[in-house]
Amino acid sequence: MSEPFQAVKVSERVYWVGAVDWNIRDFHGYQTGRGSTYNAFLVTGESNILIDTVKKPFFDEMLSRVRSVIGDAGIDCIVSNHAELDHAGALPDAVRNLGPKKILTSKMGARALHDHFGTGLDLSIVKDGESRSIGGIDFTFLETKMLHWPDSMVTYLPGDRVLFSQDGFGMHLASTERFSDEIPNEILEQEGAKYFANILLPFSPLVTKLIERIKSLDLRIDILAPDHGPIWRKDTGRMPELWAKWALQKPKAKAVIVFDSMWQSTETMAKAIAEGLVENGISARFMPLQVFHRSDVATELLDAAGFFAGSSTLNKHLLPRMADVLTYIKGLKPRNKMGAAFGSFGWSGEGSQQVHEMLESMGVEMVGAPLAARYVPDANDLESCRQLATQAATRIFEHIEDK
Ligand code: FEO
Repeated sequence: MSEPFQAVKVSERVYWVGAVDWNIRDFHGYQTGRGSTYNAFLVTGESNILIDTVKKPFFDEMLSRVRSVIGDAGIDCIVSNHAELDHAGALPDAVRNLGPKKILTSKMGARALHDHFGTGLDLSIVKDGESRSIGGIDFTFLETKMLHWPDSMVTYLPGDRVLFSQDGFGMHLASTERFSDEIPNEILEQEGAKYFANILLPFSPLVTKLIERIKSLDLRIDILAPDHGPIWRKDTGRMPELWAKWALQKPKAKAVIVFDSMWQSTETMAKAIAEGLVENGISARFMPLQVFHRSDVATELLDAAGFFAGSSTLNKHLLPRMADVLTYIKGLKPRNKMGAAFGSFGWSGEGSQQVHEMLESMGVEMVGAPLAARYVPDANDLESCRQLATQAATRIFEHIEDK
């Protein structure tokens, strides 16, 4: 009987057997505006090996794609590159239905899988750099600790020159196309940057080391097969090159002006700052939080030198949307930023000071004291905003030359 879902052939022995999640829009705080995919791969030959699984609700879809290749046969082994539930959620169901003799994972992967699913899984640990033949098919395993979990590893299939890179070099993008060369470059770069900025940014130094390590190993990679987004069968070095660039967090003459406003006063200050920056040669991204999501702010900050944040004061505090964004951005540990805080107030005025303190606490080099305007900014207040922007632009250009 024909299966409702079909596998897609990737190479001589490899099939894509994952699932497309068209509906997901929130990935633990990251707005996945174009959905996502959970890629799993079936390696066939002398034995059948499943590389990762999918998020639990998509198990039937994955199983159907597996069945479309091997019918009712079982599989010999599952390689779990990453224990996060978008890839391991369906692992217990896969074990029950496909009967693998073993599950290979890293040492930290074994701990994470046991912590998630109990000790009933029969796990076999592979070491960093280990090569192993599974049912006559050779694989090499490389740990990628903290990229982005302690358990993370990637698996290389030298026979077909496929690197199963787990979350590495992926993107959240649902598509009917399975290969990157079928998708416009602009979308690949946008979603790749968004994924990097929102997930990998705190681990930038490790990304740099990983890319150097992969280069030093001189792996021949004809297919780059991440667990999210399209598979690369052409230009396999492109996403690693972009990751290497993004990991440096080299700032451009660009600033993000993010703010939340109650009665447009903080917004008026934001406009004066944006105009001042633009007049001085800085490209400005104007991001009112009534419209923009925290993950868009993180994405725009990836290559920005300037980080200006504004909030009105509400009940002696910054506005909740600004607290949300600043908390989120702080966790991402952005580097090489300079900026300032601003905001309007009525009678107490803590908002802009609190924003200033949060920017400082995340290592933003402050170009001035927080600007505060009572109720509605007057001409003097707006002039102060423009002066701050002019001062900041000079510092940004000096800062860029230093980097
Ligand atoms: Fe796609 Fe870290 O899970």
